[in-house]
Amino acid sequence: MNFIPYDPSGSEMDTRLLPCDAHGLECAAALLATGAPVAVPTETVYGLAANALDAAAVSRIYAAKGRPATNPLIVHVPRRLAGPDELAAAGLIAELRAGTPQRVVAERLMRAFWPGPLTIVLPKGARVAPAVTAGHATVALRMPAHSAFLSLLDALPFPLAAPSANRSNSISPTRAEHVLQELSGRIPLVLDGGPASVGVESTIVAVEEDGSVRLLRPGGLPSEAVEALIGSPLHTALPGPTIAPGMGSLHYAPRRPVILVSRSEAPPVSFFRASGSIGILLLTGEAVCPTPWQVACGAAHLTIVTLGDAGDGRSAARGLFAALRALDEAGVETILAERPHGLLGAWPAVHDRLRRAAGPRTGVDVNVNR
Ligand code: TXA
Ligand code: MG
Repeated sequence: MNFIPYDPSGSEMDTRLLPCDAHGLECAAALLATGAPVAVPTETVYGLAANALDAAAVSRIYAAKGRPATNPLIVHVPRRLAGPDELAAAGLIAELRAGTPQRVVAERLMRAFWPGPLTIVLPKGARVAPAVTAGHATVALRMPAHSAFLSLLDALPFPLAAPSANRSNSISPTRAEHVLQELSGRIPLVLDGGPASVGVESTIVAVEEDGSVRLLRPGGLPSEAVEALIGSPLHTALPGPTIAPGMGSLHYAPRRPVILVSRSEAPPVSFFRASGSIGILLLTGEAVCPTPWQVACGAAHLTIVTLGDAGDGRSAARGLFAALRALDEAGVETILAERPHGLLGAWPAVHDRLRRAAGPRTGVDVNVNR
């Protein structure tokens, strides 16, 4: 077995790309056991993983991403930690007393939606490295559904903290080559598990002491699926920076300015040069510039991308980040993106990511917690 060398003090390193076969998974496990960060596929987006119980390993995630230490990470757990008892015994969450609403609801969510794109925030246990939760009293947990990542988790004696595998201030990666574009030279290994099947990050909910469930981030699991299970509407996130610290505006932003416009609206021409180069991102249908946009675009050179089927937004979610990345690389000056109107399925998550991509770019409101 030829394992990959890792020097934690090295600032520049070779980044290897391996498939998720037995050799790739063994190399990843060996690196993770020495405290190295490794990029892994998940069903939502690629993650940058490290031992969640080892403060030094976790600090290497923040360093590789250039992520502020104030933005906590999600802890990814193996199949053996499928419920509150197992998680508490492993020191990841606090003991939740039997029969309490918080415990009952947390357990139901885990049983129904894990493995899958649902992250659950609960009071933290003693073994989670403080850097993982950025000093918060809660920890975010998820059991991912990507089979190779789940096998890796099952094979390791520790859980993995993993944010999306992009540099802070960039778009989340949905393919191994996106991770290489973001983190080459900064991490020793990227496991290639194919394109992410969901394409947007997990839905994050906090389960509170009284058993109420608060939506902190719309994502790959539709809110209505959670609401159907618990039998009541989700509470919305409280305003303020502390509850999901990475959820400020201008997250997931391409380098180029993004303007969100409905198909039936005329785009505000003052935002771009109608003789320049414009990227057009359409959610459904053919790659044809909508009629009300044509006049505004004038003689501009158009690069048009469409994300595919109508319906529940799943296809739009799957292709969204790759399309934003491709338009960025095409060198367009501005991206005109179609505003989603769907309220169910993956549409709220697609709308959320597009709104953040189109968020303010100047002043204190610019969020750096990507
Ligand atoms: O699908 C996903 O969730 C992906 C894959 C890799 O699993 N991960 C991901 O991680 O999106 P990241 O770090 O890019 O986003 C995690 C979000 C951040 O907004 C962070 O602030 C929030 O989760 N978060 C983490 N711990 C939290 C906590 N204890 N309370 C509230 N929010 C928390
Ligand atoms: Mg992220």
